[in-house]
Amino acid sequence: MLTRRDFLERSGLGSLGLMGLGMIPEAPANAFALERTVTGKKVLILGGGLAGLCSAYELGKLGYQCTILEARPRVGGRVWTVRKGTTETEIGGTAQTCQYDQGLFFNAGAGRIPHTHALTLHYCRELGVKLVPFLNVNESAYLYMEGSGPLANRAIRQREFHNDLRGFTAELLAKVANQQSLDSAMTKDDVEQLIGFLRMEGDLSPDLLYKTTERRGFKTPQGAGDKPGEFSDAHRLLDYIRSGIFHPSLSNYGEYTLYQQPPMLQPPGGMDEIPKAFEKHLTGKILYGAEISEIRKTQPGVRVVYTDKKTGAKKELTGDYAICAIPLPVLRKMQSDFSPAVQRAADFVPYVNTGKIGLSFKRRFWEEDDYIYGGLSKTNMDINQIIYPSQDIMGKGGVLWGYYNFNEKAVKLGNMSLKEREALALEQGGKIHPQYKQEFASSFSLAWQKIQYNQGGWANWSTEARNRHYKALTQPDDDIYFAGEHVSYLTAWMAGALESARMVVGQLHKRVSQTASKQ
Ligand code: FAD
Ligand code: ALA
Repeated sequence: MLTRRDFLERSGLGSLGLMGLGMIPEAPANAFALERTVTGKKVLILGGGLAGLCSAYELGKLGYQCTILEARPRVGGRVWTVRKGTTETEIGGTAQTCQYDQGLFFNAGAGRIPHTHALTLHYCRELGVKLVPFLNVNESAYLYMEGSGPLANRAIRQREFHNDLRGFTAELLAKVANQQSLDSAMTKDDVEQLIGFLRMEGDLSPDLLYKTTERRGFKTPQGAGDKPGEFSDAHRLLDYIRSGIFHPSLSNYGEYTLYQQPPMLQPPGGMDEIPKAFEKHLTGKILYGAEISEIRKTQPGVRVVYTDKKTGAKKELTGDYAICAIPLPVLRKMQSDFSPAVQRAADFVPYVNTGKIGLSFKRRFWEEDDYIYGGLSKTNMDINQIIYPSQDIMGKGGVLWGYYNFNEKAVKLGNMSLKEREALALEQGGKIHPQYKQEFASSFSLAWQKIQYNQGGWANWSTEARNRHYKALTQPDDDIYFAGEHVSYLTAWMAGALESARMVVGQLHKRVSQTASKQ
């Protein structure tokens, strides 16, 4: 008998076909079974973000002697959870100390894990980091378009827009299909099936019109006794168009973008549970407060000069190899013996500007008053979006992301003082949630382009930059290897940092093993 696998192999689809049918995962295999053939080589790991931590963790399993040099007093880099007492001073900025109530937190960098990021999930599993849902889509959350038009300057529930648009587009397509316009491509039976689907998809009436739907919510709610509930009225298609609700800022990317589709996940106590779980396996191997200023080739080997930030003393360390997991905007200003190709990559690969503010409130009014439990509201204002906490639902107070923006908006807000950012977030967010004024407690904001040991959000590879500079980073520069989200196609994700770590560990171990077997 022909099995499904036989069929796919014969049809030439092979494993690609299996993937397409969703029968095997698209992600690479998680197991990382390198043979432990050599021990004792000294590897300096430059930077204790996820790429550095994962490299040291995997090399440790193989018997290498690793030392991580990390400038900050903590590991995790862009995986950074802010809590009461967290301090930060941006480049050219003033010091801020987080004043949230005990138990509240704000993931200032990475906040959500796609369910398709195999390696992130693999390490959470291997290191015992529990995950809970991160609600990235919420039909009750709002759209707010500032501008003109009948639907502008007011908060509209996402479910109203999504269901109206589903209805209107289904109605338009049903009209086209019914007028024999699709006859050349479809039989009568095909058209009937399509129309059946459109009726269901758009909740169309038997005459194939979209009038309104229970799916967009009730005008008067259902209840007991004489409360059957009354459907709300659909907005007009033209009102949506003429109020700018099709603006890209309001796009439904949480459902369209592969890496943001539900379900998304997070550790319940903050994203820094992941780097902390790596850290537990690296006791004695991490130098905290070690700010690297020079990376030199000793041929063979590597020498690194750093400042011990506790004492101010300049020190150095040598190793047989180094894995450099420092972000490029920091690396570009460092003294080094990098090849011209690597130096050009460090100099020219652009990074995204991005900023976030965590606003803490005394009361979870978004839950109590607005029935919003997690998810995000979207707007064309500078704040771009408001992201509600998925954790501690029904808790007392809470922290929401009062803005999370990119590019020009992030530069504009990043150039403001901390107080100005806070005022803007409260003023703009207050248009969506008038409760802001009364319930606000404190804020903590950051502009990633001004965070000393990052100086950017994530690598923003253009096709041209990728063609010119990527390759130089994916191969060793003598005894120096490069890792980090920027050395991957999964930029802006923890998975990129982890994938790159796996890549360099594999490359380095192959080289060391081959050299050892020749000796
Ligand atoms: P980093 O984490 O930046 O690590 C580099 C390390 O090098 C840092 O610890 C730094 O202190 C250290 N260093 C720098 N300079 C020196 C020096 N001179 N000497 C010594 N050490 C130095 N990913 C997700 O999966 N989900 C998300 O939701 C998500 N959201 C994000 C939101 C924001 C705002 C940002 C900025 C990132 C987000 N990411 C997200 C991406 C993710 O955080 C990164 O891809 C990943 O953490 C990068 O890891 P890394 O090791 O490459 O770099
Ligand atoms: N991957 C980053 C996020 O989810 C950019 O916000």
